[in-house]
Amino acid sequence: MGNPVLTAIAERRSIRAYKSDKVTREQFDTLLKAAEEAPSARNSQPWHFSVVQNPAILAEVNAEACKNLNREGDIFHGAPAAIFLSCDASSRWGRLDCGITTQTIALAAHSIGLGTVILGLPDAAFTGSRGDYFNQLLKFPSGHSFAVAIAVGVPAGTKEAHPIEPDRITFVE
Ligand SMILES: Cc1cc2nc3c(=O)[nH]c(=O)nc-3n(C[C@H](O)[C@H](O)[C@H](O)COP(=O)(O)O)c2cc1C
Repeated sequence: MGNPVLTAIAERRSIRAYKSDKVTREQFDTLLKAAEEAPSARNSQPWHFSVVQNPAILAEVNAEACKNLNREGDIFHGAPAAIFLSCDASSRWGRLDCGITTQTIALAAHSIGLGTVILGLPDAAFTGSRGDYFNQLLKFPSGHSFAVAIAVGVPAGTKEAHPIEPDRITFVE
């Protein structure tokens, strides 16, 4: 029998095409329970998860990010939902903690048949001139700032595994 953890790690991909099916409340509960089980420095849990299924809100974030990035298209890749992670800005290891829990969500999603893509591009909506408005729209707690988002949905396609770069590992003896 294979190792389910290693299999999920090996099979996860960034999914950039989604079916229109909604992510159910039960599925979100599974993802968010896994997210909250992630480790964090001094167990500070400096994250907050803003779950968005409202297409109008995703469209508004997309429009602002695209405007600020001077680009077009859908940074959410047509996903029916996204989880926005905001981070306690005073946390020494907050960004790393948020990254760890984001990958935990991605692996948990894969394990229940959902696809994800981690998204840094929405940052442009929160760091632009209307950043305060978007912080409030996404209900980030006071003192938090955008860390990363993760689009979630039923995959409508897949992709190849990313190539593994050589020479990234050194055994120091
Ligand atoms: C911090 C971070 C930010 C990312 N931002 C984006 C993004 O804004 N848009 C996107 O399509 N993919 C984004 N990605 C996905 C990467 O492009 C992807 O992980 C990488 O190409 C490897 O592919 P894989 O995830 O399928 O293995 C991001 C990934 C990480 C870890």
